[in-house]
Amino acid sequence: MTSVAFVAALEAENQAALRGLEPDATLTVEVAGALNVPNLLKVALKNEIEATEIAARWLVATDEARVKLAFARQVGDEARHFRLIADRLKELGFDPEAVDPLAGGFGPLFRYLDSLTTTVERVAAGQFTREAIAVVKNRQFIDFCERVGDKVTASLYRDVIEPDERYHHELGRSLLLRLATTDEAQAGAARAARRTLELAEELQRKALVTAGIHHAPGC
Ligand SMILES: [Fe+2]
Ligand SMILES: [Fe+2]
Repeated sequence: MTSVAFVAALEAENQAALRGLEPDATLTVEVAGALNVPNLLKVALKNEIEATEIAARWLVATDEARVKLAFARQVGDEARHFRLIADRLKELGFDPEAVDPLAGGFGPLFRYLDSLTTTVERVAAGQFTREAIAVVKNRQFIDFCERVGDKVTASLYRDVIEPDERYHHELGRSLLLRLATTDEAQAGAARAARRTLELAEELQRKALVTAGIHHAPGC
């Protein structure tokens, strides 16, 4: 298969799986209890620092200039998202310094991404797939913000953060088109993308069961 055909097929497979991440139409948003914008933004801080860290590790781990620069761009963007979210938490009356987003260590998705050893698997999982998940989850989070009347957080996500996440997904696409040229590379990339989706689904199910969270923002 050419890399063009492969990337189109992977995109279609991802999109089909991502529909499983869309909230069930019958699930009304449970805003009661701890489910509110500040608590969801705290989850987002952890996602952003993990996204920063994994891109930084991969930047160092590759010898290819073009790939280094793609990860460098992502490191800068995710670190900026972290700061913007921390600033928004402050505006909402919460001290972002009071929470250490890495207090519980890195999560299962980070650990899986960190175990990948080839660039083609990394861009398939970390950029092409994880960022496509982020776009879906951010759209859900924006809807949530609108529903509870937080227009400022909604516009931060819609106008600033989400376009970056979309760009990271596109970076993943352009690198995959260049790298997924052999059967072996395509098999590795497809496996890594599938596992990333599985982990995201598992994490969402766990968050839903334990905290009623089904629209925490992603990166
Ligand atoms: Fe981000
Ligand atoms: Fe991102």
